[in-house]
Amino acid sequence: MATSMSTSKNKEKCLFTRGDHTITVPKTLFRDNRTRLAHRLRETAGVPGEGGFVLLQGGEDVPFNDTDINYEFRQESFFQWCFGVEEPGCFGAIEITTGRSLLFFPRLPAEYEIWCGKLSTLDEFKERYGVDESYYVDEIAQVFTQKNAKLILTLYGQNSDSGLYSKEANFDGIEKFKVNNSILYPEICECRVIKSAEEIKIMRYVTKISSDAHKVVMRSIRPGFTEYQGESIFKHYIYSVGGCRHISYTCICGSGHNASILHYGHAGAPNDKVLKDGDICLFDMGGNYCGYAADITCSFPANGKFTDNQKFIYNAVLGARDAVIEAAKPGVSWTDMHLLANKVMLQYLKQGGLLDGHVDDMIHAGLNEIFQPHGLGHLLGLDVHDVGGYLPDCPKKSDIPGIRKLRTARTLLSGMILTIEPGCYFIDSLLDAALANSDQNKFINSDKLKLFRGFGGVRIEDDVLITDTGVENLTSVPRTVQEIEEWMAHGRENLLLPQEQFKL
Ligand code: GLY
Ligand code: MN
Ligand code: MN
Repeated sequence: MATSMSTSKNKEKCLFTRGDHTITVPKTLFRDNRTRLAHRLRETAGVPGEGGFVLLQGGEDVPFNDTDINYEFRQESFFQWCFGVEEPGCFGAIEITTGRSLLFFPRLPAEYEIWCGKLSTLDEFKERYGVDESYYVDEIAQVFTQKNAKLILTLYGQNSDSGLYSKEANFDGIEKFKVNNSILYPEICECRVIKSAEEIKIMRYVTKISSDAHKVVMRSIRPGFTEYQGESIFKHYIYSVGGCRHISYTCICGSGHNASILHYGHAGAPNDKVLKDGDICLFDMGGNYCGYAADITCSFPANGKFTDNQKFIYNAVLGARDAVIEAAKPGVSWTDMHLLANKVMLQYLKQGGLLDGHVDDMIHAGLNEIFQPHGLGHLLGLDVHDVGGYLPDCPKKSDIPGIRKLRTARTLLSGMILTIEPGCYFIDSLLDAALANSDQNKFINSDKLKLFRGFGGVRIEDDVLITDTGVENLTSVPRTVQEIEEWMAHGRENLLLPQEQFKL
């Protein structure tokens, strides 16, 4: 009796779970997001609420080319943020005065049950997603007419990372209504930037699962492993232990020279090199739970013991990461954090004899972008490069070398979640360009630099919450040289390759 009562209570509250060993995402997380959005539209954007609705269109199934097989479905992120709906082909509306929520589901043929199982009724969907009303998609115009809709806000805006545009809702009969597609985008993006207490809990969870998966990878691999075998261990852990069916981006598992390729692991370079003794590994992988993303990079030696050169570069990046963790808090500019990280790292490289001169002059000459050709980090949430980096009222993107790659230049606010991910890479094309540039080559000890050709790179990437006073680091993996070596030493002498473990 007790069990069935607690189960039905959970069903009432829970929108998403993958079993008792995983976290429960409550319906209230999405209700709260909708309430925050409606409130912001009324109070900040000054939308006259009476008769006003937000309308979002969810993601569609995407087939592989001309086949009847689909890519594994992932919900469109704005729709996910508002409704948490798992199915494709839906629409959702929010009444701006009340925050009242309506979902519209595709009317599926009876044949569907044979291939995909029992069809849910509209009442079942309403109950499952905790919304106020549910209809079929072909009823949208009729419902808006019945409700005397005076204004429908649709979503149209450009993602500042991809340059692509959001999916604007469209339905049969939309021309009968007054539609505005410019108000909603910046307001919903700003709502997504500041995480609620319930969102933070999910972000803590997915970051913890992803941290643990990285730790298992570090303890499991040795020279002789292929890069993708690290990827495979990570994916197995996050799914089997954490219920994360998806990763948040293609796994980057570079070793040796490949560690200098920022987004290695793509289709043309699919993590397929064998790890060599003496290689540095740069593994950047993040799980995804209920749409929420982790994005963590660990850099470590393949054999568990840093060489002196690896220690030198690793500590330069760690110094930069520590300085930012110490300094980041509300009111601080992200551009200043980026420059702080660059300065600390260049100072370490100077102390180690790779560079010479004044660090400020190096930055002035753009040398920071030679060794770290990406920004310090980015907003993180439902998208790994989350929305809100360059909204209309935020500082604009710079075109100055050294800061032009930043994905945001905003002033930090309590409730933001960002990555802090300084890195140091030895990328031949950039090094050659710097050596040929008289403004830059005067700072470089070219003999010492030769030692690092082919070294690869180091990135240290943490996911952090900006609190009222500083940061809470959601990531928890070994970070110092000593911590990594101690962690990796455990059981190292007996490590088997997967092809040895799985012999039939
Ligand atoms: N994993 C992609 C990034 O770090 O931004
Ligand atoms: Mn990142
Ligand atoms: Mn990353």
